Amino acid sequence: MKIEVLQAHHQKKSFNCGQDDLNKFIKQYASQHQKSGTSKTYVAIDDDLQVRGFYCLSSTSIGFDVVDTVLTKRLPRYPLPCVVVGRFAVDQTVQGRGIGKVLLAHALKQVSTVAQIIGVNFVVIHAKDKKAMEFYQRFGFISLTSNPLTLIYPVSEIPSFN
Ligand SMILES: CC(C)(COP(=O)(O)OP(=O)(O)OC[C@H]1O[C@@H](n2cnc3c(N)ncnc32)[C@H](O)[C@@H]1OP(=O)(O)O)[C@@H](O)C(=O)NCCC(=O)NCCS
Repeated sequence: MKIEVLQAHHQKKSFNCGQDDLNKFIKQYASQHQKSGTSKTYVAIDDDLQVRGFYCLSSTSIGFDVVDTVLTKRLPRYPLPCVVVGRFAVDQTVQGRGIGKVLLAHALKQVSTVAQIIGVNFVVIHAKDKKAMEFYQRFGFISLTSNPLTLIYPVSEIPSFN
């Protein structure tokens, strides 16, 4: 399994993670959003170029006041720069085999690279439901007290992947 930026030759027609909106996103919108510069999609592909999982990244910001104070020490009282993992899914046929874990680690690594060039305080994820929230929490994402389905990960805590 390799992870690459989404390209035209990647096969995504049969992708099915069990959630229609995410299936529709990868099949119909991901390339369009990438071309327009709205989001960048990274896909986990097998040897046949079939997309087995994906996530996408965009820039965003989060209000200082919605983040728990323990995480905003020494940060300015402005909207805080973030990268949002906008969509995240693994094909049902290969769920539970560690692809989600690898994709999430890859996303954090990408953000840590970006953070060497521009200011980024947090990685943000809006979980679809409690199940997804628990998945992200397992990997160190912290639910906001004000909205537990929004989770953040301090860029300063991203492990070194070297
Ligand atoms: C959530 C999802 C991306 C997880 O991907 P996956 O490839 O099945 O997950 P992995 O196999 O990498 O799991 C890694 C670890 O997380 C655990 N895990 C998986 N789903 C979990 C969940 N919902 N809650 C808590 N832990 C979970 C696994 O048991 C595994 O633990 P281990 O490392 O101790 O073995 C996948 O189930 C999916 O695409 N679901 C449908 C779409 C969706 O809900 N996306 C999230 C939108 S916000």
